[in-house]
Amino acid sequence: MKKILAIIASPRKLGNCEIMAKEISRQITEEHELQLLRLSDFDIQPCKGCYMCMFKEQQCIIEDDFNALTQAILEADALIVSVPTYFLGPNASTCALPIWGIALYPHAEKLWGKPAVGVGIAGIPGKEGYTLLGIESFLKLLMAEIKDCRMIYGAMPGEIFMNGENQTVAAELASALFGPEKEKKQPCCPLCGGQTFRFLEKNKVRCMLCSNSGTLSQKDGIPVFAIEKGEHELFLTKEDALAHREWLIGMKSRFLKHKEELKKISLDYRKDGEWIRPVKPSGTDTAAE
Ligand SMILES: Cc1cc2nc3c(=O)[nH]c(=O)nc-3n(C[C@H](O)[C@H](O)[C@H](O)COP(=O)(O)O)c2cc1C
Repeated sequence: MKKILAIIASPRKLGNCEIMAKEISRQITEEHELQLLRLSDFDIQPCKGCYMCMFKEQQCIIEDDFNALTQAILEADALIVSVPTYFLGPNASTCALPIWGIALYPHAEKLWGKPAVGVGIAGIPGKEGYTLLGIESFLKLLMAEIKDCRMIYGAMPGEIFMNGENQTVAAELASALFGPEKEKKQPCCPLCGGQTFRFLEKNKVRCMLCSNSGTLSQKDGIPVFAIEKGEHELFLTKEDALAHREWLIGMKSRFLKHKEELKKISLDYRKDGEWIRPVKPSGTDTAAE
């Protein structure tokens, strides 16, 4: 039987994120087992940039819940990610993923291509800011295959189902999860399907999901993005992800090669300014320097 993992980014129990994920599961016709995890239950410390996960240990050496979370994701056949908008973007639990994303690379082969659907929930229609982009980035960092990603609206817990509209969205996401690849919703980045862009000089644009650039034109009043693949891709293909992992592993020898020069640059800034630190019981002070 398929195992579906619903990642609930909202700390609110039985809130809109939780019930939407459960509704999507109810509408999936394939027999499956639903597992749920609430990101805020997991204590995940920020990445220290030590790269140990890329070498000897092959997992994060910080003693927190990261490895348990990774294990749950690895064991799932498919993912549902449900994220609330907080202050015009995905809430903090979702934003935390990029800080531990590097430790996922040792598992790239197993992670790659897990079908996933995402749903963002905001209280005010149109006031979701970059929530959708945050969910797509989250799923791309998990190396998942995004089958569909949607925004719905409802502020109070349960409000999303006060009319039938969002049940339909849940049904569409449910059928997308194990369904065939759908045509990308236009206008979008032709490479990754991203729908968020930064406008650069001389009519250039950059896709905020895959971070590739190109130009913008119009055809029959519809924006057309001509985006080109860059030299260093992160996730467009499995080969890209594996090549990026090699690049990360190569960081150690690049660092050792330039160590003295780099140290000289950084140490020059060592004495600037005064650090403000939280007062902690003696012996547990954080090292800001
Ligand atoms: C701290 C906080 C910030 C919020 N910021 C926004 C916002 O910027 N835009 C918006 O439309 N809704 C905002 N909301 C509303 C939530 O997105 C909405 O209530 C959503 O349904 C929460 O999901 P939950 O019930 O699963 O927690 C905010 C809610 C909270 C608690």
